[in-house]
Amino acid sequence: MRIVSGIQPTGNLHLGNYLGAIRNWVSMQDDAAASGGECLYFLADLHAISMPHVPADLSANTREMVAALVACGIDPDHSILFNQAQVPQHAELQWLLNGTARMGWLNRMTQWKDKAGKNREGQSVALFTYPVLQAADVLIYQATHVPVGEDQKQHLELARDIAQKFNNDFCAEDAPLFTLPAPFIPPEAARIMSLRDGSSKMSKSDPSDMSRINMTDDADTIMQKVKKAKTDPEPLPSEKAGLEGRAEANNLVSIYAVMAGTTADDVLAQFGGQGFGSFKPALGELLVEKLAPINARFVELRQDRTALDAILRKGAEKARALAIPTLEKTYDALGLVRR
Ligand code: TRP
Repeated sequence: MRIVSGIQPTGNLHLGNYLGAIRNWVSMQDDAAASGGECLYFLADLHAISMPHVPADLSANTREMVAALVACGIDPDHSILFNQAQVPQHAELQWLLNGTARMGWLNRMTQWKDKAGKNREGQSVALFTYPVLQAADVLIYQATHVPVGEDQKQHLELARDIAQKFNNDFCAEDAPLFTLPAPFIPPEAARIMSLRDGSSKMSKSDPSDMSRINMTDDADTIMQKVKKAKTDPEPLPSEKAGLEGRAEANNLVSIYAVMAGTTADDVLAQFGGQGFGSFKPALGELLVEKLAPINARFVELRQDRTALDAILRKGAEKARALAIPTLEKTYDALGLVRR
């Protein structure tokens, strides 16, 4: 098992980021350790330049994301943790794969269509070829499993198409160069919603700080935000079906369930019939208990730039060693003279 995944370095990390990708990465790392597999996790900083960005923010967010990943349990001695920019083989392989990827394939990518909207002419070339870099990210390590959210499934299918076509066009039938990576979509990928509006995702760009629980929030702030979270006047139902049409209540119950490692039905078996006056303090305490150690480690590590840079440097060194053999074989397969 070779697990590879990337995350874009955004700042202002919150509970939604933790319960979405990050927690899943940690559990895959622990499973991989038990089964002799290997995980490579990286900050997709090269992908970040496909949209307008502020250079100083990109560097700061890259380091902040490393601090968050380590605080949440990614162990740089067990997983290979790095940023793309220090492993130039990703960009090199992308160029080589640009010869195989088809315009028509990229034109069909829904993320491209969504991000470009009506203004395709004004987008960067990088936004269009983004999925080819993503294919290079996983193919260069011969990844077998790629944990991603539902929204990235199409990009993974594209990576498989590119790998397949390259193997067909340039390799002997019994000696394919690239492994076809399988997407791994976590079964209960938690979708955490805003605390102020149960119909929109918890987001770093929501103008109200009360809408999210930040990784930097201390215990008092967390309690405050949970107590002020939007709800309805009804008591909690005793089964999940009773949450239908109650987006805010549903969100708080889901958060409780994932944090406690149980199901919504179990949570409601315990709290059904009670009002938010008793449920909210229980949820707040659970969040504080689970997040306090992460928060402490994060707040300490994010200001230790030397430590963060050392983690990235070491991770990149290991990643390069794994990337080079596949890259060399790709040059060879294409007939490019290297020696
Ligand atoms: N595109 C992914 C996202 O936005 C991030 C990413 C880049 C990625 N390269 C990857 C994810 C390779 C998995 C594998 O979430």
